[in-house]
Amino acid sequence: MKILAIETSCDETAISIIEASGAVLKPEFKVLGNAVLSQIIHKEYGGVYPNLAKREHEKNLIPIFEKVLKEAKLFTKSMHDIDNEALEKILVKEPELFKHFIEFIGTIDKPDIDYIAVTSGPGLEPALWVGIKFAEALSHVWNISVLPINHMEGHIASVLYKNTAAIEFPALALLISGGHTELVLAKKWGKYEILGQTRDDAVGEAFDKVARLLGLPYPGGPEISKLAAIAREKNLPRQFELPRPMIKSDDFDFSFSGIKTAVLYTLKKIGDVTQEIREDMSREFEDAVTEVLIAKTEKALETHAAKSLILGGGVIANTHIRSEFEKLILNYPDVRLNLPAKEITTDNALMIALAAFVHLSKGEEISTSQISAEGNLKL
Ligand code: KG4
Ligand code: ZN
Repeated sequence: MKILAIETSCDETAISIIEASGAVLKPEFKVLGNAVLSQIIHKEYGGVYPNLAKREHEKNLIPIFEKVLKEAKLFTKSMHDIDNEALEKILVKEPELFKHFIEFIGTIDKPDIDYIAVTSGPGLEPALWVGIKFAEALSHVWNISVLPINHMEGHIASVLYKNTAAIEFPALALLISGGHTELVLAKKWGKYEILGQTRDDAVGEAFDKVARLLGLPYPGGPEISKLAAIAREKNLPRQFELPRPMIKSDDFDFSFSGIKTAVLYTLKKIGDVTQEIREDMSREFEDAVTEVLIAKTEKALETHAAKSLILGGGVIANTHIRSEFEKLILNYPDVRLNLPAKEITTDNALMIALAAFVHLSKGEEISTSQISAEGNLKL
């Protein structure tokens, strides 16, 4: 089956087309087309503004879609009449997208696609709506069903990409991104129990905020990671000691805002922040975060019998965190570590297509009711 997936939950406009076959236990995927556009406009503001993200998605979806269709060799030009009125109703709150949509859609053939998948939450609602309405407009024109997908399930499903074997359940999943930090027990695909989550900032958010304090650009994760690697290479004595919040607490929750505040006060005291201080602080921050993540995951592995450990979310692009989890898993020979390929860790539509395949291959019915954006959608 061919699945077209659309992801617009935050500041990445992403579209993917995959061809999937096999059963959910032994899936095979071919990526026919895939593109992610990171909205650089947010760099100027050091964070993501929902309405700005919405406008960028509206502007970028059609050009990206055209690119992906061409890459997938599913793009053929031909002129049709289009029912503008119906489309205007669907895209009434996305006027910019409507304009591009009607210019485009009447000039191409219906591509050979079986299903459309779209992220319906969690995320920024104005941004989510753009993807949902785009999916609905395509569905209207081409008569293809649309499947709503939970973005966090997408991060879990990202480990299926380039994976040679099925995921074994029960699985423990640690999801660490810019908006979420969750430890999840997955009994099977679609059946999740959240064991713990952050009480304040998400891990990626902490990376971004600390980067900002250090005068580094957004998104901060990759920047901090680079400086921390330099500090590790230099191996100079440590100048700072940051807290490891909740590392010994009797639950699976996290808290990262205290580390950020500790960085703030330390930097205020120093005044003149040199490059060496930036490097050393980055290393100490990365260590503090990693130690907490490892400790909580270890505790969960001790308490819940899991056959797999799945890691997902943008922060798992971090080289140091990946290698510490690779070390941790050596103590659990019965648990298989499933790390997503680095190129699929930050937001993308490929993971949304993979999650859609999981649902479709189980033979789930697709609801025909209208899809709503749910900013706080739970797993
Ligand atoms: O999953 P994602 O792309 O978006 C959300 O769903 O939130 O995650 C983005 C987050 C950002 O906070 C970014 O700073 C962080 O992932 N990130 C990293 C690295 N690459 C991206 N954090 C630490 N180390 C990295 N190498
Ligand atoms: Zn994400």
